[in-house]
Amino acid sequence: MAPFTTLWIALQVLTLTSTVSTTQLPVVGPGHFEVTFTEFSLTDTNRLDPFAKDGRPRSIMASAYSPSPACQNKRQAPYMPPATAAFQDDKFAVYGLPNGTLKSLTMGTCDKVTKSNSCSPKGFPLVFFSGALGTSRLLYNSMCQSIAAGGYIVVSLDHPYDADIVEFPDGTIITAANISSDADIELAVATRADDIAFVYRQLGNTSLTDKFFPGYPHRNRLYNTAIVGHSLGGAAAAAAMLQIPSLRGGVNLDGTMFGPVVTKGFDRPFLLLGHENKTQNTDPSWKATWPKLTRWKKEFEVKGAAHYSFSDLPLITSALGLQEHLPAEVEQVLGRLEGHRMMDITVTYVTAFLDFLLKSGSEKKLQQASRDFAEVVQVA
Ligand SMILES: *[C@@H]1O[C@H](CO)[C@@H](O)[C@H](O)[C@H]1NC(C)=O
Ligand SMILES: *[C@@H]1O[C@H](CO)[C@@H](O)[C@H](O)[C@H]1NC(C)=O
Ligand SMILES: *[C@@H]1O[C@H](CO)[C@@H](O)[C@H](O)[C@H]1NC(C)=O
Ligand SMILES: *[C@@H]1O[C@H](CO)[C@@H](O)[C@H](O)[C@H]1NC(C)=O
Repeated sequence: MAPFTTLWIALQVLTLTSTVSTTQLPVVGPGHFEVTFTEFSLTDTNRLDPFAKDGRPRSIMASAYSPSPACQNKRQAPYMPPATAAFQDDKFAVYGLPNGTLKSLTMGTCDKVTKSNSCSPKGFPLVFFSGALGTSRLLYNSMCQSIAAGGYIVVSLDHPYDADIVEFPDGTIITAANISSDADIELAVATRADDIAFVYRQLGNTSLTDKFFPGYPHRNRLYNTAIVGHSLGGAAAAAAMLQIPSLRGGVNLDGTMFGPVVTKGFDRPFLLLGHENKTQNTDPSWKATWPKLTRWKKEFEVKGAAHYSFSDLPLITSALGLQEHLPAEVEQVLGRLEGHRMMDITVTYVTAFLDFLLKSGSEKKLQQASRDFAEVVQVA
């Protein structure tokens, strides 16, 4: 997100007039499960970090969001750990968010779950999530929680040096490298796909899943897995589909495609969801990829949405009552739809697709979504 330096005046006004108190972000969309969060780091000793360039192995951070039918103890958890929240507060100050906003946010979570976390014999399907370039995975906390509430284990990744800031449990902080040339962006997409493939393999390791997901019951879910990504994460979702044949399908939220997938495509279901005027008629990478997607595919355009509509930012500004008060230029980044409504659109379309792909085989929920959200137009 390029900063708008002209917004400083608005920022000064808001910081003077707003007091920041704690706000719990809601779960939005059709899901009804309580959700437990876990965070973990993993190191791939078989791979050097291509951005660190100092011979260190690649380490990633992940958050897992698990539906908890047996939730016993609800509590509020911080939306972001302190160093990340302070970093993001500084970053978003130029958009008019009062200093301390991200530090003040919380989410409802479950403290402890009973051992049997799964009520159905097959357990919940697994869904990977990968976010935008220069953006923390935690800026999709509410989106991931809301998808998990629909009955999915969501595992969201930070790709260090590509994310703006990654905070590890031992206190290590990695900020972004300069990823701007086409070659760097292609390297970032390929690295993300490798990160996803690595975590996917690790989730088959029961000593790891016992440690990080006490309730995680079945290896079976590894055969019932999809991937969702926003922006460069959407490109990474497509790249991972090409690289990992056992991923059953994916969703690209508003991401221009990069790398071999544009010419090779793949033969499993894929959904494209774009902001207003981002369609295969305006994005050549979408146009080129489309005919190479040889199975079920649909493309929707969300009128009134902008690129960062597919993150938690519109929900955060709405929940804080700030949406009407932000500088007009912010609409170019966050769109003009009310934040809860925007999140409802994203979560409803994503979970309707996941339901079709991983659970029911029926497109009924997608058809219902088209009746419920007039803002969403089917492009192809
Ligand atoms: C926000 O507040 C912190 C201390 O609370 C301060 O260090 C930081 O500079 C402030 N950021 C901005 C953009 O004012
Ligand atoms: C980032 O790298 C590009 C070349 O890839 C260069 O043009 C640009 O000046 C660099 N930006 C910074 C902030 O170093
Ligand atoms: C499985 O996970 C455990 C615990 O994190 C780890 O020590 C072990 O090296 C992993 N095994 C493999 C084959 O990666
Ligand atoms: C989308 O395109 C239409 C037609 O060109 C234009 O009227 C509208 O302003 C565009 N919307 C945005 C958000 O750029």
